[in-house]
Amino acid sequence: MVKKTVTAASAVLMCAAAFSACGSDDGSSGKDGEIVMGFAQVGAESGWRTANTDSIKASAEAAGIELKFSDAQQKQENQIQAIRSYIQQKVDVIAFSPVVETGWDAVLQEAKAANIPVILTDRAVDSEDTSLYETFLGSDFVLEGEKAGEWLVENAADSDVDGDGDINVVQLEGTTGAAPAIDRAEGFASAIEADSSISVSASQTGDFTRDGGKQVMESFLNADKSIDVVFAHNDDMGLGAIEAIEAAGLEPGKDIKIITVDAVKDGMTALSEGKINFIVECNPLLGDQLMELAKKVVAGEEVPERVVTEETTFTQEQATEVLADRKY
Ligand code: AHR
Repeated sequence: MVKKTVTAASAVLMCAAAFSACGSDDGSSGKDGEIVMGFAQVGAESGWRTANTDSIKASAEAAGIELKFSDAQQKQENQIQAIRSYIQQKVDVIAFSPVVETGWDAVLQEAKAANIPVILTDRAVDSEDTSLYETFLGSDFVLEGEKAGEWLVENAADSDVDGDGDINVVQLEGTTGAAPAIDRAEGFASAIEADSSISVSASQTGDFTRDGGKQVMESFLNADKSIDVVFAHNDDMGLGAIEAIEAAGLEPGKDIKIITVDAVKDGMTALSEGKINFIVECNPLLGDQLMELAKKVVAGEEVPERVVTEETTFTQEQATEVLADRKY
C-alpha cells in the first residue's frame, strides 16, 4: 500500500518552525498535553450524520483528545470558515468531511503553511495536490453504488413492477457535488449496464434529507405513472420517498421497489417492514479509527494514504435478523 510519511525528524522541524502551535514536548497543545483536534462536520442532515457525529465525540473523549467541533449546516463556506478558525487557534490536527469535492485547495494550503496536518474523513476532496492531507478514512462510495445496481440486475424480473418489459428507475441524488452523490451514481450506472431493460429516467438531488427526498419523489410521481424502482443515495431520502409514495396511494416496496444506502435504524426498520427492498451499508462509526490516525499523524508516524471502511448489504430478511441489535 502507498504510504504517506511524516518522519519524526520532520515533525520536530515542523514544530520548531511553528513553535507557538506546539504547547508541550509531545507536540500537543491541549490542557494536560492533550492533542487538540478541530473537526468540521458537514451538518446534521441525516440519521447517518447524527451517528457519525456521536461516534466522533465519544471516541475523542475515550482517546483523551480535546475536540473542537463545528456544524457547517451543509454549506462549504461555513466549513472553510471553521477550518480557518482552527488554524488560528493552532489546533494539533484538523479533520473534516467535505460537503462537496472541489474548492478546498486554498484553505488546505493555509493549514499546510501553518504545519497543521489534515485528515479527510467520510468524504474525499478532488484535488491534484495530495500533499494537502495526510490520509482519507471512509467508504468506497463507487462500490456502494455498484452493490445497489448489482442487486437490481439480480432482481430484475421482480422489479419490472408494471410488467411492461422495462425497468424504469428514478434516482434521488445526494448533495450536488458531494463525493457520495457523484460516486454512488457512477457505481450504480455502471452496474445496471449489465441489463439493457434497466434505465434511469429521472435523477434529481434531495440533498440527503428526508424532506428533500419526499419533495423530489412527489414531483417524480406527478410526472410519471410508470416508475418501477427508486434508487435513493441514502436512507433518509428513501424514507421521504416512502411518505410520498404512500400519500399517492401506492405501496412502497411492492408497487415501487426501493433501494437505499446507509442502513441506519430507521432505514433498517422500513426494510424489515417490507417498505424498502435492499440497503447497502455505509458505516458511520469512524470515530475510533479517526482518533487512532490523529494520534499517529501528530506523533509524526506513518499512516496509510487511504483507509477504506468495511461494509455489507442487507435484504429484508437480514434486516429483520439484526434489527434488535442495531446501534444507530
Ligand atoms: O457522506 C456520507 C453520506 O452523507 C451518507 O450516506 C448520508 O446519509 C450522509 O448525509
